[in-house]
This record gives sequence, structure tokens and C-alpha cells, in this order.
Amino acid sequence: MEKLPTILLAAGVGCFALAGILSGYLPLAHLGKIKVKTVEELVTEPSYEFQDLAKRYPEQFKKYYGDANVENYRKALKLGRDTYIAEACWHCHSQYVRPVSNEDQRFGKVSYAEEYQNEMFLPHLFGTRRVGPDLIRESGKHGNDWHVAHFYDPTIVVPTSVMPKYSWFFDGDQPNQKGLAMIAYVQWLGSWATPEAIARAEAEGGQK
Ligand code: HEC
Repeated sequence: MEKLPTILLAAGVGCFALAGILSGYLPLAHLGKIKVKTVEELVTEPSYEFQDLAKRYPEQFKKYYGDANVENYRKALKLGRDTYIAEACWHCHSQYVRPVSNEDQRFGKVSYAEEYQNEMFLPHLFGTRRVGPDLIRESGKHGNDWHVAHFYDPTIVVPTSVMPKYSWFFDGDQPNQKGLAMIAYVQWLGSWATPEAIARAEAEGGQK
């Protein structure tokens, strides 16, 4: 009879060790070998939308970013990502189209592994709650002017919206450093998911 507690103790410790290996050691050992792209490798030219912001808001853009070149675009994207985290946009938005429930019909192409394997997704921003729509295919869904109005006061363009106003993204009625960064960032989300990139992901078995 004394054997039973000993067996249970050994089983408990054994399961604990197994869980540590399976969920801790193995993923680390595996993921550590996959290269994480830097923003420099990932982003090689300024987007159309970033250049368009420079034309629409020349004074604000010059003041906060200077020229619409690729270095300044990378700076804007990083600030946009940091602001997305700081403002807890992830509390209401996901950045992951799941391969279930016909999500691709609502949001766009199902997510594939490669698109998250870079510095911009450390930490990842998959999100869990969806008070608002998924944003990983946001690029180009709306024009810059729509986003300006939307961040200023979402109900201007979507009268029933429960998204908060982000008045601190503006100097008066013009987007400021954060506002320009936030728009550049949401317009970047999914811009990489070209038909060729998706075909490649499908060929590699990364997406159905
Ligand atoms: C309280 C929840 C909430 C928060 C916080 C929130 N949003 Fe939203 N968002 C929504 C809802 C709901 C919608 C859909 C209605 C609308 O378009 O306003 C939306 C819509 C959007 C859209 C338009 C999507 C589309 O394709 O039509 C974008 C872009 C967006 N949000 C970005 C952001 C960013 C960036 C932040 C953080 C600065 C943020 N949201 C914070 C709830 C939220």
C-alpha cells in the first residue's frame, strides 16, 4: 500500500518534466533555428500610402518624418506597431485570419506561417478578442483619408462604431507623428500577401 503514493509522486514529477520538454524545450530548440527577418530585410521600399500621406499633409509629414523614403517608412511602421501595442488596439482587434468558419470570406486570405516570421511580429499580435474586425488584411481596404476621419472619430465614417476616438493622434485636425505612423502601419498590414506570396505559401503546405 505504501507503494501507491510513491508511484503517484513519480507520475506527477514525470508528467511535469514531460510538459516542460514538450511545451518549453522542444519549441525553443526548434524555433531558435528559424531565421527571424529584420525590418530592414522585410521592408525595402516606402508604400504608396506612405508617399500619399507625404503629399496630403506636407507640413506635418516634413516636421515628423522628413522625406517619404524607406528609412523613414520603417521608422513609421515601428512607431505604428509600438503605438498599436501601447494603445491596446489588440484588445479589440486580431491579426490572424483562421482557417475555420469561412473567415477568409469576411477578412481575406487565411494567414500563413511565414508572414509572422519577422521582427515586426515580436511580440506577435494575433489577439484573441474581436470587438472590431481582424486587421491582418487591412492594407488598401480603405484610403488614407478614410483612416484619418476614422481615427479622429470613428462615427464620422461608421455611425454605429464603438471604437474610441484617438484625438491624441492629431495636432488640431492634422495627423501628428503617431497618427501618420498608425495609418502607415494599418495600411501595411497584409500588403505582403500578394497572389505570388500566397501561391508560394500554398505550395509549401503552409495554407489551405
Ligand atoms: C473598444 C474596441 C476597439 C478598440 C480599442 C479599437 N478598435 Fe478599431 N474597431 C473597432 C470596431 C468595433 C470597428 C468596426 C467599426 C468601425 O469601423 O469603426 C473597428 C474598426 C477598425 C478599423 C477599420 C477596419 C475595416 O477594415 O473596416 C481599423 C483600421 C481599426 N479599427 C484600427 C484600430 C486601431 C489601430 C486601434 C488602436 C489605436 C483600434 N482600432 C482600437 C473596435 C475597436
